[in-house]
Amino acid sequence: MNAIDLLLKRVSSPVLEEPAPSPEQLDLMYRAALRAPDHGGMRPYRFLQIEGEGREKLGQVFVEAALKDDVDCNEAELDKLKNAPLRAPMIIVAIATLNAHPKVPEIEQQLAAGCAAHGLILSAFAQGVDAIWRSGKMAFNPWVNQRLGLEANEQIIGFIYLGKARKHKMLPCPAVGEFVQLWGKA
Ligand SMILES: Cc1cc2nc3c(=O)[nH]c(=O)nc-3n(C[C@H](O)[C@H](O)[C@H](O)COP(=O)(O)O)c2cc1C
Repeated sequence: MNAIDLLLKRVSSPVLEEPAPSPEQLDLMYRAALRAPDHGGMRPYRFLQIEGEGREKLGQVFVEAALKDDVDCNEAELDKLKNAPLRAPMIIVAIATLNAHPKVPEIEQQLAAGCAAHGLILSAFAQGVDAIWRSGKMAFNPWVNQRLGLEANEQIIGFIYLGKARKHKMLPCPAVGEFVQLWGKA
């Protein structure tokens, strides 16, 4: 797939099955992520790779987090959280690692981390690996952060679900003109 096709054709796939990306595919994906634009060369991100029984443990962490927030959380909601990580054979948790820098504010570090996550997803798609970037309330939960070993200066920016989709959805086709304005021209 050429680069323009990749950029124009990437789609998210909410339903993902085996196989998980191979070690070789993952190596390329992480290398692509590390090529994200990055003010100050801070590489303000890291990734947690979760597969196999790790997904069940993550589901358990989600359940604990929900019960800590609301002891009366209903069974259906708990079941949904428990099973959420099983929606794909692999999840990569993308984490932004923010540090004080005289020229690079937090927003720029968060953006660099987002670009890295997108690089990971794009390079997955280029290799026939499907993905969806999800967040949800568990991405912003202190108990989840603690159990995943995040430091105080770190934030989850996404759970990237990876696997194989049976089919791709239709490509959205937004009207480019609605997003572009000419400025400064008479
Ligand atoms: C930071 C971020 C968080 C997201 N969180 C969710 C989410 O929790 N659930 C979801 O269905 N889609 C989420 N999305 C959107 C999907 O990843 C996807 O982009 C969307 O379904 C549109 O599909 P497309 O990428 O094929 O255009 C998120 C995207 C971003 C960038």
